[in-house]
Amino acid sequence: MSANRKVSKVVIPVAGLGSRFLPATKALPKELLPIVDKPIIHHIVKEAVDAGLETVVFVTSRPKILIEDYFDPADLTSHKLAEVHKAHLIEETLELSRKIDIVSVRQYHPQGLGHAVLQAAPVVGGQNFAVVLGDDLIRTRGKTTAIGQCLADFQARDSGSVIGVLRVPSDQTSLYGICDLGGADFTPSTRSLKVRGFVEKPSPSETPSNWALPGRYVFEPTILDALRETLPGKGGEIQLTDGMVSLLKKSPFYAQAIEGERFDTGNKLGYIIANVAYGLDDPAYRAELSALLKELMHHEGLI
Ligand code: UTP
Repeated sequence: MSANRKVSKVVIPVAGLGSRFLPATKALPKELLPIVDKPIIHHIVKEAVDAGLETVVFVTSRPKILIEDYFDPADLTSHKLAEVHKAHLIEETLELSRKIDIVSVRQYHPQGLGHAVLQAAPVVGGQNFAVVLGDDLIRTRGKTTAIGQCLADFQARDSGSVIGVLRVPSDQTSLYGICDLGGADFTPSTRSLKVRGFVEKPSPSETPSNWALPGRYVFEPTILDALRETLPGKGGEIQLTDGMVSLLKKSPFYAQAIEGERFDTGNKLGYIIANVAYGLDDPAYRAELSALLKELMHHEGLI
């Protein structure tokens, strides 16, 4: 890898309102809702750490201050937990915190994902950086993490940015940002393709492909210039996709087909499914949970 393709920082925007998850998010950041026994944001930061990233830049807001507390390695309860032999329950979190430097920048008002990323400019300016969204989990079951797959593609190239993509069912393209791949498609040996364009939430009849953006990006620093010039779009917000569309005119983007399963924990159904899936994946719960789920389905007359 050439030195100019090094990436050490990941921006994780967590300043959104979480309105789809009200009332749970009235007093609690959605990123701290648990998937089994760990907050969503723990899984996200672990994905970045496992990919070798060294600094997390949270784009945060006043109600989200608890996210920083979660990663504070100086946990005041540690000695009390040790006394009751429960210290091991927070060890994984403390270990994660020790592996990464955390910096926070504020987005005072949620003005869109592009605006959120721009707030990280004083920390990442002039360097390549990754972005991982704070509410989209991608499970890769011990293989290279989703952002790790994008980083590998980025570092194998001399220039350009890389975005992760995942296939979505044809009738769901209107829920996502979609990649135009000029009619090309991935094969088992071609996991990376040049991007022709990005379309925000196209209808199934108009979509250029079924490849959606699940919130994994590796950018060259020029994205920040593009975002500075981006005017507010849909909903008066500065959209990240609009900045990407304008950068695409000057510099290439590559789509990396991620091997993994996505759980959109920002909406209630996606969150419930993520808990069931991660619960079934955990040897401590697998047998009992699957038996209980079957019993419940039977009881509800669903099977
Ligand atoms: P979402 O649109 O999924 O999150 O943005 P949201 O705005 O919190 O959710 P709803 O629609 O109100 O339920 C994707 C990610 O970008 C962050 C969010 O925190 C989320 O992690 N984001 C979004 C910001 O940090 N700032 C923004 O202005 C918008």
